[in-house]
Amino acid sequence: MKKHLLFGWLSATVLLAGCTQKPATHPTDEPFRSVYHHSPVANWMNDPNGMFYDEANGVWHLYYQHNPFGTTWGPMHWGHATSTDLLTWEEHPIVLYPDSIGTIFSGSAVIDKNNTAGFGENAIVAIFTQSERIGQHQSIAYSTDGGYTFTKYEGNPVLMGDIADFRDPKVTWDGDHWLMTLACQQEIRFYGSPNLKEWTYLSSFGKDLGAHGGVWECPELMKINDKYVLLVSINPGGPFGGSATQYFIGDWDGKVFTPAPQGEGREGASNWLDYGKDNYSTFTFHNSPDGRLVAMGWMSNWQYAEVVPTVTFRSQNTIARDLFLFTDDEGEFRLGSVPSPESLALRGEETKYLPDAGIVELTLDGKQDALITLSNDKGEKVVMNLDVHRRTFSMDRTASGDCSFSHDFAARTVAPLFVKRDTYKILLFIDHCSIEAFDAEGAWSMTNLVFPSEPYNHLEVQGGEAKIYQIEN
Ligand code: FRU
Repeated sequence: MKKHLLFGWLSATVLLAGCTQKPATHPTDEPFRSVYHHSPVANWMNDPNGMFYDEANGVWHLYYQHNPFGTTWGPMHWGHATSTDLLTWEEHPIVLYPDSIGTIFSGSAVIDKNNTAGFGENAIVAIFTQSERIGQHQSIAYSTDGGYTFTKYEGNPVLMGDIADFRDPKVTWDGDHWLMTLACQQEIRFYGSPNLKEWTYLSSFGKDLGAHGGVWECPELMKINDKYVLLVSINPGGPFGGSATQYFIGDWDGKVFTPAPQGEGREGASNWLDYGKDNYSTFTFHNSPDGRLVAMGWMSNWQYAEVVPTVTFRSQNTIARDLFLFTDDEGEFRLGSVPSPESLALRGEETKYLPDAGIVELTLDGKQDALITLSNDKGEKVVMNLDVHRRTFSMDRTASGDCSFSHDFAARTVAPLFVKRDTYKILLFIDHCSIEAFDAEGAWSMTNLVFPSEPYNHLEVQGGEAKIYQIEN
């Protein structure tokens, strides 16, 4: 295919080059298969589950909500993949199958270094929801081979549900005991345990706080510096419709989460982890190296996840991101996310061509608006806009390609810039069906799927300049 490139140079729009040489592309089995994002080899995937890092072997383990019988949601299992670089993934056999207690919904995994559960030192213990027609319960399973096979505990379930939506346990070590964060309708409940088998109710959080447009799911409580951040996915009720991940910053006293007061005029306002439509059920990897908070989310939205135009599989996860806290220009704490160093290691040679999968680094002048357009020869385009007066960055995918499969897909998403800068550096991670935009310093991120009928091969920048990088082979 003929590739050429439109390239802008500090507020001017300039046509740079038309080239006939085809740059190297990665093999794919279908046009929308991501090359550096995790996707299931076949069939359906939703939330990432049980992610942990095995430091002895340098292996990242990722389990995921999986229906092995088709490309839409169905009886849930835990699929399994591993990676040594967070970019290339090896698929392994399913680790958890439905049983008489129920199908296997979302959950987490921990390395039980001190053998608190009695399954063996360093056993990997998975804690997950089992869902049946009339209820949801929490169960556990253990692995003594480093996470490749699991045995279900004979005393399951370890925590019986008392309401309809009672799910997605994320377990962490809280000083001298295990702490479970659980989504219960539109609240979060906290439970404590000495051994992962017996759980005691501690407290509930969330009534009348944050967004309540839908059910709360996939929570996680994490410590950052001397603060605590509670991630809560919500569906529907996201800022651009459907699924999204909100967060709360506050204090944790071992039993109760107390949100910090928000600044004037912001009382009760919702905070969003990402300002696109396609970043849901974000969790961090247990035991991430160097005390980092390495996170990944499901890169889709329940509004249309089951009808997107992939053929043999559905859904992929975001790139790995490191989470951190920063202070915005109003003096408010915010949760930021930057591409993890492992994701940045993807950046290969600089190129003039816009590859099907690559990274674009934008340098935009903070004094004037900028317009960035990715397009193809069919006239399909994604238009991004830095608005320095409104202090926003937006991405419009209404003409990005196939939007016909769902009336909820065509959208323009908008992120507040949070921090004023003289020059805005923005990173675009482009893969076959996704664009992830990041403020390079992590003040905001925006994750959106796109389904162009052929890859975007033009880049036009007004109000700044761009460098294009191939991905490492
Ligand atoms: C979120 C979710 C979870 C649930 C799982 C079921 O996407 O609804 O709450 O555990 O998916 O597949």
